[in-house]
Amino acid sequence: MARIGRAFAAAGSVGSATGVATRARTSTIREVPGSSVFGVILAAVNQKGGVGKTTVALGLAAAAARRGRDVLVVDLDPQANATTGLGVWDVRATIDDALAADRPGALRDVVVDAAWDIEGPGRVRVAPSGPALAGREMQLATDPIGAQDRLAVALEGVDADMVVIDCPPSLGLLTVNGLFAADTAIVVTEPGAWATDGVSQIVRNIERISDRRQGALRLAGIVVNRLGRTRDARYWHEQLREAHPSLVIDPPIRLRAAIAEASAASLPLGALDRDGVREAMAEIDEVLEVLSPRVAVPALGLGHDAPGGAPGERRYEMVRSGHGAF
Ligand SMILES: Nc1ncnc2c1ncn2[C@@H]1O[C@H](COP(=O)(O)OP(=O)(O)O)[C@@H](O)[C@H]1O
Ligand SMILES: [Mg+2]
Repeated sequence: MARIGRAFAAAGSVGSATGVATRARTSTIREVPGSSVFGVILAAVNQKGGVGKTTVALGLAAAAARRGRDVLVVDLDPQANATTGLGVWDVRATIDDALAADRPGALRDVVVDAAWDIEGPGRVRVAPSGPALAGREMQLATDPIGAQDRLAVALEGVDADMVVIDCPPSLGLLTVNGLFAADTAIVVTEPGAWATDGVSQIVRNIERISDRRQGALRLAGIVVNRLGRTRDARYWHEQLREAHPSLVIDPPIRLRAAIAEASAASLPLGALDRDGVREAMAEIDEVLEVLSPRVAVPALGLGHDAPGGAPGERRYEMVRSGHGAF
């Protein structure tokens, strides 16, 4: 288990599990050899709704928990889909209370167990959300000091192997708080019309925040979700790949009824006995695998133009080993 310290949100210096010197955290977070996606705070973002941020966030949480990890999901969306998706309905304290407290570690007071049955020693907990969070965004806008980093402060000292922040469908202050608290971001998108424009916009926002945080936020990649078998879907998938060749994660996650059914039933995919479950779980497992080396070593180039790219193009330097190499 790892403790999230203040330094976690800032840049420090530790060696990674692979022995490569990395600019990373000075907290007591320990990366697990060979599975270094653990020990991270991962934010799933996109200003568009319905693309699968919550689904992918919960899918990754389940995949990590099945590997024995202690995963904390932070639900930053007032619609509370991650909370209810985890089977948590009766909520007393929410993430809104933790943000209102503006106190280091305040998140600990609101965390509850998910109602998911996870095989093995892993578990999923959640800092639940609720409708009151919608008002918090406006209140944050009037706070000149803590507008951006209240979540980072609230997360201090929280114990978890992996934190997954499910962001709301906007580029507002809640998402900004998510990106100030995270050390790794993934953009989740569907391969639909104009998705590329939206993705480019959120990528720019991640870069701007990373610059302000001296590179302590890394963009690990773009997860393409809800990929159907139509020509249209293939076309938009290709557009995304062309626009962000080094960032689009392979495999994509296919559009599957089993995934929608699992979310509707507030169950992890593995709890469903249905066609497509195994394939969907395998894809999500693979995304977790692909992300692992990408988060093991910070994106050296994130926030800095590296030589060799097209003019104005940012390049993302990642550890050059295995399938995580860029
Ligand atoms: N790969 C998929 N296949 C089928 N349905 C999906 C898939 N991913 C997400 N969904 C469904 O699409 C809807 C929107 O997904 P959600 O994760 O809530 O998006 P967001 O969090 O971006 O708003 C939900 O009903 C969810 O069950
Ligand atoms: Mg959502």
